[in-house]
Amino acid sequence: MPAQSAQISPALTGTVTVPGDKSISHRALILGGIAVGETEVTGLLEGDDVLHTAECMRRMGATVTRVGEGHWRVRGVGVGGLIEPADILDMGNSGTGARLLMGLVAGHPVTAIFTGDASLNKRPMARVTEPLSRMGASFVGRAGGKLPMAVIGARDPMPIEYRLPVASAQVKSAILLAGLCAPGETTVIEPEPTRDHSERLLGHFGAEVRIVDAADGSRHVTLRGQPELIAAPVVVPGDPSSAAFPIVAALIVPGSDITVRNVGLNPLRVGLFDTLIEMGARIDYLDRRVAGGEPVADLRIRHSELKGVTVPAARAPSMIDEYPVLAVAAAFARGTTRMEGLAELRVKESDRLAAVAAGLAANGVTHEAGADYLVVQGTGRAPGGGTVATHMDHRIAMSFLVMGLASAQPVTVDDTHMIDTSFPGFGGLMTSLGAILS
Ligand code: S3P
Repeated sequence: MPAQSAQISPALTGTVTVPGDKSISHRALILGGIAVGETEVTGLLEGDDVLHTAECMRRMGATVTRVGEGHWRVRGVGVGGLIEPADILDMGNSGTGARLLMGLVAGHPVTAIFTGDASLNKRPMARVTEPLSRMGASFVGRAGGKLPMAVIGARDPMPIEYRLPVASAQVKSAILLAGLCAPGETTVIEPEPTRDHSERLLGHFGAEVRIVDAADGSRHVTLRGQPELIAAPVVVPGDPSSAAFPIVAALIVPGSDITVRNVGLNPLRVGLFDTLIEMGARIDYLDRRVAGGEPVADLRIRHSELKGVTVPAARAPSMIDEYPVLAVAAAFARGTTRMEGLAELRVKESDRLAAVAAGLAANGVTHEAGADYLVVQGTGRAPGGGTVATHMDHRIAMSFLVMGLASAQPVTVDDTHMIDTSFPGFGGLMTSLGAILS
């Protein structure tokens, strides 16, 4: 899909449901694919990223079938049972799919070649190849540890204890997935806790996972290797990272009052909502409940007068994908919003710090971007009128379309086709609330 513009819209109203959580969807297919028996998944995100993972699991022996909308069945091969894929594994745009499956393959005695699109093939993989090499796998890739890359899985993988040098749930998960095939205990030490969907789902499928919060604030996650994983139903909640877009849209479009149903509220994912509430957002959590082992609620969001805040670096892991849309909210707040600890944004689907700064500049928003921080001067309303380069990044595209719904002049994004990686139906959902996109 080509360029798209968003323009000033009437009050957004209505009730919507966002697609399933991307992180949980990848993990449900991967763990279902190595469990014994048939795993029934409901609410699966049918975005391109997850469809690539489904296809790659098929190529390594799992039976993955779509039964209906968001409803899939996976028949697994058993831990250690992956077969060598006959061809290259194309992970598309997905860092999560690539890094998690590299971990899974690393623990199996098979060789697989991974590639991705132009964005994924620029992203750093040394963060996974380094620990996975210690477990016995080897890697042949491009200079700087980039895809395309051959992963030669370990014949006899070794358990390790590994302290993460960067806060990354993908790296943690890659190590745990390799650790499934190793004897004994694999431990990942996280200086700052990151999303724990892998741990939760591993436990749900019958693995023994121990989590210890140490006195220094780090979290120690230990997996006992070589479990028999047993198929178990997975109910995927709505993705809080996708809900973020209609939520911020409703906060900045005057008169709005919307409800987003069934939003996942895993405590390690709610940094954006906490921040918006600090900024003065009227967000009500309705009917809080637990579904599929994750806390969820329906969220009512009303247009709000926002004020600038400082977002501490320690909060970054719980909202790492939400800074682009927070920067948009900050442009409509009054006062200064300071976001710290953003170094990881530079290695996402795009250099998100640079892409956000360029998008703010194109739309007349005063800001300052440093190596790992962003400061936005909010004036209550963004001027708009600019065209934003998305750099193959779905979240940059969606964030700036949201900006255009309330800015003085329309905002154009140069390329919207990547939105389907995480949020198929984004345009239709926003339009159903009253957004004007063209
Ligand atoms: C994810 C972890 C995060 C996040 C990504 C999904 C996951 O990446 O940005 O969208 O599912 O584990 P990092 O692990 O690189 O922080």
